[in-house]
Amino acid sequence: MGTLIIANWKSQMLEKQAQAWLAEMKTILAATVHTVVICPPFTLLSALSQDTAVLLGAQDISPFGMGAYTGEINGEQIKEFAVYVLIGHSERREYFKEDDALLAKKVAMATENNLIPVFCVQGTDTPIPVGVAIVAYEPIWAIGTGKAESPQQASVVAGNIKANSAVTTVLYGGSVTSENVSSFTQADAIDGVLVGSASLHPGEFSQIIQNA
Ligand code: PGA
Repeated sequence: MGTLIIANWKSQMLEKQAQAWLAEMKTILAATVHTVVICPPFTLLSALSQDTAVLLGAQDISPFGMGAYTGEINGEQIKEFAVYVLIGHSERREYFKEDDALLAKKVAMATENNLIPVFCVQGTDTPIPVGVAIVAYEPIWAIGTGKAESPQQASVVAGNIKANSAVTTVLYGGSVTSENVSSFTQADAIDGVLVGSASLHPGEFSQIIQNA
């Protein structure tokens, strides 16, 4: 698999911008030895799935299946376009009050639909639901602040997560840039990165892929 690099666009990007991003990134996405996953807003999954060089993830999943759940996007719908799904990002926990019980249901829905959950944790205290093999360790204070965790400390946390769970892959997330990415991907217990803001800019994101 090489290094897993996941781009989290959050609630950003319009279709035209995504097409321009893709036009610039196409060659590097097709050529890289790394596994690069783009998690765009739901509105862009269909358009981006037209390009076979792109591996997609959703940023969230409904805890319910198909049915009368206004506003929700379920696992069966996501798997038409995506392979991965982010679950439990700290922004979901903070702004949408998602708790451990709800997140465990979301993980169950993902695995039921053969989607690969990428479960976000803020430290070793966050409970990790059954069925999770990939975790993204993202200290809240490092998200969007320009202040990344030290690679040594992140690697210790990643090692502890693996030692105490069935998790096999731990990503680091929080202010990853082209300058610091290799310090994380080279750290012993870290298998990749989850990139927010820096993934929106093709120039910077290309550099991240190259330096990873
Ligand atoms: P950031 O976001 O790279 O902008 O810090 C990371 C994330 O929230 O996944």
